[in-house]
Amino acid sequence: MLTISNLHAGYGKVEVLHGISLDVPQGQLVTLIGSNGAGKTTTMRAISGMLKPRSGRVTLGGKDITGSAAHRIARAGLAHSPEGRRVFAAMSVTDNLLLGAFPRFTRARPKGDIQRDLDRALALFPRLKERRQQLAGTLSGGEQQMLAMARAIMLNPDVVLLDEPSMGLAPILVEEVFRIIQRLKADGVTMLLVEQFAAAALNVADYGYVLENGRIAVHGPAASLKTDPKVIAAYLGGAH
Ligand SMILES: Nc1ncnc2c1ncn2[C@@H]1O[C@H](COP(=O)(O)OP(=O)(O)OP(=O)(O)O)[C@@H](O)[C@H]1O
Ligand SMILES: [Mg+2]
Repeated sequence: MLTISNLHAGYGKVEVLHGISLDVPQGQLVTLIGSNGAGKTTTMRAISGMLKPRSGRVTLGGKDITGSAAHRIARAGLAHSPEGRRVFAAMSVTDNLLLGAFPRFTRARPKGDIQRDLDRALALFPRLKERRQQLAGTLSGGEQQMLAMARAIMLNPDVVLLDEPSMGLAPILVEEVFRIIQRLKADGVTMLLVEQFAAAALNVADYGYVLENGRIAVHGPAASLKTDPKVIAAYLGGAH
């Protein structure tokens, strides 16, 4: 469904990704694990068009989307829930969610039933439902993170990139986010997940990639990564 091959990307003169290849097959949940600064967010930004790759190829459902503008990539069916609560502060929760469905209003994506999907998104995130008229900028950090995730889903996407959806959430809400991820997976949504809680991510994922200094160091079925001594030592130890 989503295929990245030999992707190079960076900022200014600095190359961060030195030729990454990964595959997110249809209906699967793939997780990307790595230390701070390894290049996880950069990978997601290079996929979704927020950052132009220097070379390599990104294909979505067989279509080459390498270097396309972010709005075109969204139209092609890829939603990105970015790191760090990027919401439209001066708009209400509901309007943020409807904006996530924008390509559906313009028929750049199949319209479907936007109201039904809005109700479903609010049902998935009861905290947002209670606050649906509130301005997004006045939500707590954790609530904004949930809104970014819910907004991504409103595209009715073929593939979703989730960059640290649990960041800043209290433990009980972290569990809720993982439950929501499992619900989306059960609904057949294809996902690429980056999570600070690597062990929890491997528990819900089908497959995992470990990114080290801009290169894929190890990859394999999530169940085998969980028992890989090197992965345990570096990413699943006490601190994680
Ligand atoms: N806008 C930018 N300009 C210059 N360098 C950047 C920029 N964004 C990220 N970097 C650098 O790129 C490298 C990879 O950063 P990236 O955000 O992709 O890491 P990450 O794996 O997502 O880390 P984290 O777990 O902390 O979120 C880091 O060294 C970072 O300092
Ligand atoms: Mg990051």
